Amino acid sequence: MCGIVGYIGYREAYPIVINGLKRLEYRGYDSAGIAIYDGNDLKVCKTKGKVSDLETRVEKEILTKGTVAIGHTRWATHGVPNDINSHPHYSNSGNLVIIHNGIIENYESLKKELITRGYSFKSDTDTEVLINLIEDVMKKEHTLKLGKAVQIALNQVIGAYAIAVFDKNKPDEIVAARLGSPLAIGVGKNEFFIASDASPFLEFTKNAIYLEDEEMAIIRLGKQIKVRKIKDDSMVAPYVQELQLNLEQIEKGGYEHFMLKEIYEQPNAILDTFRGRLLAKEAIIKMAGIEDNMKKFLNADRIIIVACGTSWHAGLVSEYIFEDLARIPVEVEYASEFRYRNPIITEKDIVIAISQSGETADTLAAIKLAKSKGAFVFGVCNVVGSSIARESDAGAYTHAGPEIGVASTKAFTTQITVLTLMALRLARAKGTISSSDFRHHLIELELIPDKVKKALESDAYVNSVADIYKDAKNCLYLGRGFNFPVALEGALKLKEISYIHAEGYPAAEMKHGPIALIDEQMPVIVIATKKGHYEKVVSNIQEIKSRKGKIIGIVTEGDESVKNLADHVIEVPESSEFLTPLLTTIPLQLLSYHIAVKLGKNVDQPRNLAKSVTVE
Ligand code: F6R
Repeated sequence: MCGIVGYIGYREAYPIVINGLKRLEYRGYDSAGIAIYDGNDLKVCKTKGKVSDLETRVEKEILTKGTVAIGHTRWATHGVPNDINSHPHYSNSGNLVIIHNGIIENYESLKKELITRGYSFKSDTDTEVLINLIEDVMKKEHTLKLGKAVQIALNQVIGAYAIAVFDKNKPDEIVAARLGSPLAIGVGKNEFFIASDASPFLEFTKNAIYLEDEEMAIIRLGKQIKVRKIKDDSMVAPYVQELQLNLEQIEKGGYEHFMLKEIYEQPNAILDTFRGRLLAKEAIIKMAGIEDNMKKFLNADRIIIVACGTSWHAGLVSEYIFEDLARIPVEVEYASEFRYRNPIITEKDIVIAISQSGETADTLAAIKLAKSKGAFVFGVCNVVGSSIARESDAGAYTHAGPEIGVASTKAFTTQITVLTLMALRLARAKGTISSSDFRHHLIELELIPDKVKKALESDAYVNSVADIYKDAKNCLYLGRGFNFPVALEGALKLKEISYIHAEGYPAAEMKHGPIALIDEQMPVIVIATKKGHYEKVVSNIQEIKSRKGKIIGIVTEGDESVKNLADHVIEVPESSEFLTPLLTTIPLQLLSYHIAVKLGKNVDQPRNLAKSVTVE
C-alpha cells in the first residue's frame, strides 16, 4: 500500500528520501510528499501524482537542505488522492509531522472527540487524526517525551499502521511504530533509515532491524535504538540482521520495465527456488519445512490453501498437483472470503498461505484465524522476514528475488515451483508415486529452467501478435486441468496492465455461457498443450472457429492440429503435464506486457493497484 521513508543522520536527507520513495513507489503512487527539517524549521511539500511530480515541486517550492526528512508515497484509502490528503500530515500546532502506511479504523470517533477539544482538520485522512491525537496527549502532559506520547496515542487506536513521527522541537529523534504494516530500520554509523522495506537504504547499510507488530522504536542520533512493546511499554532487545539484498536486484538492469526484467528472470528465479532442495540425480528433494513437520503433513486430513490474486492462482495450480501426485485433498480459498465465513478448521488441517509480499492483510488475517483454531500453518512467501513468513509455523521461501513490477510474474512461477517440490516430496513420503516415477519427475523438473528460457524465445512473435490484438475490448482465456488456473492468471495479467476486459474459464465451461460472447471481435487465447485433454480442447477450438472467434493457441512445440485451426500459435517446449503451467504462463505474461506497452500504459505501476495490499 503506501510506502514510507525516513532519514536522520549527517548526510543530506532529501536525495536519500526521494530515491527511497522511488524504490517504494511500487507500493502506491497516487500522491507523494516529504517533510525536511533544515536545522531551524520544518518544510513540507506534497502533491497528487508520482514521486517525480513531487521532485519537480520540491525543487521549485522549498529548499532541500537538511539532515532529517520523512517522505511518503500514497495509495489512497481515506480521502481522494489530492495534495491535501497526501502525507506528511502536520499536527494543529505545526510542531509534529507524521507519515503513515495503514488504516486507523476508529478515526471517525477519535476525530469527533478531537474536534470537541478544538482541533481542526484540513484533510479527510485518518492519519491527520492520529498526529493530532499524539499532539493532544502531549498537550495534556507537557513533560511527556514524544515516544511516550506516541505510545499512549497508539493504545487508543484500532487499525493497522507503520508510522514515523517527528517533532521539530526534538530534531534529533524520530519515533517509528508498527502494527500490521511492515517497517524496517536501517542502522548506520551515526545515521538511521526508516522504510517500508529495506530497498531505500541498501547502498548505505546492510544492517536492519525489522520491527515486529505492536513494537515501536525511539531512534535518536548518537544513541542506541530503543525498541518497546506498544501495549505494555516493556523493552525489547532489537535484533539487527544482515541484509542479503543487493542494489542490482532492485534496478532495471537495461530492461525497459521491471515487469519485462522479471519475466526474463524466471529461468534463474526457478533455479534459485531449486537451490539446495532439488537433487534430481540423487532422486532427493530436501525441504526443511517439510522434513521437520513430516508427521503433520502425513496425518493431515486436508490442505487448505489461502491466498489472493496471482498467489491464489498458484494455489489452484498446486491443488491439481497435490491431489494428482500426493493424493491429499486440497481446498483453495480466497483469503478474504475464508477469514469472514466461519470456516470449519481442525487441528488435522494444514493451511498453506501463499504470498509474494508476505504482507497481504487478508492472507495474514486468514492464517491468524487458522492458527487460533489449531491448524498448522505453512507459509510460501517471497519476501524474507515478512509478516506472513513470521506468523507461519513453518514455511518455504520462493527465493525469486525482489519483484517490483506490480503485476506478478516470477513470483507466480516460483510459487508453483515450491508447491510442486512440496507435492513431490509428500507424494514420495506417502508412497503415492513409485520411486521410478519420482525420479522421472525430478529429472523433468530440473529441465524446466531451460524450457522456460526456450519459451521466452517466442517474445518477438508474441510481440507481433500483440500488435494485432492490442485494440481488442474483451478477451477470453481458456485452459483445462493444470492449465485452467493459467487461463485465469493470463486474463488477470491482461486486465491489470492493459485495462482490457478479460475472463479466464475452464475450456469446457465455454459452452455453458461464455460462448455467447464469441464473434469475430473476440480474441480467444486457448492453452492446448499436447497432454492436457488435448483432443477435448481441440474440439473447443473448433467451436470457437465456427463462431468466427480469433484463436491464439498456446501449444506444444511441433503441434499441427491446432496450427490448422488457430489464427496464431505460440509454441512452448514439451514437458510432463503437471509442469506445463510453468511454460504456458510465459507467453501469456509476454502478451499482456506487449499489449500494455503498445497502448502506452504504465506497465510497472498500473492504475489503482499496489504491490503490497496491507489493507483489507
Ligand atoms: C497480480 C498481483 C496481485 C497479488 C495479490 C496477492 O499480478 O500481483 O493479484 O498476487 O495482491 O499478493 P501477495 O502475493 O503479495 O499476497
